[in-house]
This record gives sequence, structure tokens and C-alpha cells, in this order.
Amino acid sequence: MLADGYEIRPLARADAGARAAAYVRNREHLEPWDPVRPESYYTERGQADDIARQLLEREKGKRHAFLLWYGAGDGASVVGQVSIDNVVRGVLQSATIGYWLDHEHLGRGLATEMVAHVVEHAQELGLHRLEAGTMVDNTASQAVLRRSAFSEYGVAERFLYIRGAWQDHVLFQRILHDDPPGNPVP
Ligand SMILES: CC(C)(COP(=O)(O)OP(=O)(O)OC[C@H]1O[C@@H](n2cnc3c(N)ncnc32)[C@H](O)[C@@H]1OP(=O)(O)O)[C@@H](O)C(=O)NCCC(=O)NCCS
Repeated sequence: MLADGYEIRPLARADAGARAAAYVRNREHLEPWDPVRPESYYTERGQADDIARQLLEREKGKRHAFLLWYGAGDGASVVGQVSIDNVVRGVLQSATIGYWLDHEHLGRGLATEMVAHVVEHAQELGLHRLEAGTMVDNTASQAVLRRSAFSEYGVAERFLYIRGAWQDHVLFQRILHDDPPGNPVP
């Protein structure tokens, strides 16, 4: 259960300003693990464009993003994000997850709670499996996944383009159920 003062809500059009502020506050904290972002990403306008793109992806059933909020009313701020991305149906019924936390909110189990939230959402979507890849030295993220019942199944060499280079990643997965696929298999 989330600690008092925190709430997880689906990403919405109105979140552009608060999300831009969160990325500005966390730029140094996130840079080692993120792709290189254009300067516009750190502005409300850039975030409005990014959110519009993500909402289109949600309509297509491909991406479901959530923000972690802290505080009440106008004083609330975005302090984390978790997403289900790359949803593939058919015989795979799988997706990837990604997450980050504000640097001032680490070490309280909030990332683990966010992962629990998307695991529940993925179960509601009928997905069979979730996958996550972490850079080899991202031990904090690996701990979140292990705590969340994901198991490590290998290392993918030169897997994602992060910080200007193709980086090796440790791959994790969690199987959610063994029922047959719920939607038509081509
Ligand atoms: C990865 C990241 C989200 C992990 O954040 P985190 O705060 O370490 O993870 P959690 O919020 O789950 O907190 C876990 C810590 O809180 C402690 N904790 C306290 N209360 C807890 C609770 N109720 N439940 C679980 N853990 C709890 C745990 O013991 C653990 O402490 P430790 O790090 O000393 O072992 C964070 O480091 C981050 O944002 N990194 C940059 C972005 C990134 O790497 N994203 C992932 C890319 S793959």
C-alpha cells in the first residue's frame, strides 16, 4: 500500500507542467539511465507533445503510463512514473515496464509499489508476461524487480541506446498467468 500523501494516477493531458518540473528537478539523477533527451523535453510544451504521443499509444493499446504524485491540490508534484509499454498481443501477450522515482523519494519502497500497480493493471489487460531490462550496473532497479517477483533470465548485449551508446542489459521477466490468450491469435 502506498504511504500517506502519495497517489498513482494515469498520465493525463493536464500533467505537462508538473511532469516537466519533475524532469527538470531529476535531470542529473535520471541522465545515467535515460536516452539523451532534447532540451524541449524539459519544457511544458515538450511534455505536452510527449503526453499527446503517449495518449495516442494508449488508445492503440500499446502503452499505459502512470504518474506518482505527492501532496494535495495545487501543491501536488510528480515524483515518479511507471509504464507498461510495447504491448504485443497474439501468441506473445507480453509488454515491457519502465519506471523512475524522484531523487528525494528514494529508499521508501515507492518504486516497488509502482511496479505492483502495473503488475495488477497488466493482469487486468490479460497480459501473460511482463519484461524489464536494466543496465548491468543499475543494481537499485534490479533490486526493485527481484522484490517484485521478476526473475533474471539473461543478459542482452548492446540492447538499448542509452547515454549515447548501445548498452548491455540484464533481462527480467514475470509470468502473470498460464491461461490461453484472451484475444484472437492470428
Ligand atoms: C530504480 C529506482 C526507481 C529504485 O528506487 P528505490 O527507491 O531504490 O526503490 P524502492 O522505492 O522500491 O525502494 C527500495 C528501498 O526502500 C527500502 N524500503 C523501505 N520501505 C520499503 C517498503 N515498504 N517496501 C519495499 N522497500 C522498502 C528497501 O529496503 C530499499 O532500500 P535499499 O535500497 O537500502 O535496499 C531509482 O533508483 C531510480 O529512479 N533510478 C533512476 C531511474 C532508473 O534507473 N529507472 C529504472 C531503469 S531500468
